[in-house]
Amino acid sequence: MPIGQTIVLVGLMGAGKSRVGLELAKLMGLSFVDADREIEKSAGMTVQEIFERYGEKEFRAGEKKVMLRLLTGEVKVLASGGGAFMQPEIRAEIKEKAISVWLKADLETLVARTSRTTHRPLLAGADRAEKLSDLMDARYPVYAQADITVPSDGSSPAEMAQRIREALLRHADQQGVHA
Ligand code: S3P
Repeated sequence: MPIGQTIVLVGLMGAGKSRVGLELAKLMGLSFVDADREIEKSAGMTVQEIFERYGEKEFRAGEKKVMLRLLTGEVKVLASGGGAFMQPEIRAEIKEKAISVWLKADLETLVARTSRTTHRPLLAGADRAEKLSDLMDARYPVYAQADITVPSDGSSPAEMAQRIREALLRHADQQGVHA
């Protein structure tokens, strides 16, 4: 495996981080970890419940703890929650220890992909297109700091995983890392 570092998937809700991450892990022979699921395991409740009971600030504190833990230990594919890369400490740790891949989706794709889900507290009760568009404005300049950007369009998770693998290999090559 020529990468040798944890691969962190970054991007907005609906960009495909979890589904693509699972495929990428299979392709690269790595384990897959979804940060939101790990947060839920350590809190003993869902992300939605954490937001409802304790608020976003507490969720972000838990997210930081869990992400910093997941960035140590075995090399893996790690799907981060959409807000994780926005936390400077998490971002710095990702920069230092991992390779980041931004799944960059347009508004139409994000709206379509999140339209059937009800578990995302930031989208609850909001006009989805408006909320996602605001989040794109706030976050895309920061997500752009990821090591690699891969467009997330109508492609299947398996196709996306292939695309990411190729981009990772190109990136490793440019950095002078050889298999
Ligand atoms: C959030 C994204 C969610 C989850 C939480 C907050 C965000 O994860 O961490 O609801 O701030 O964008 P997904 O991006 O996996 O939906």
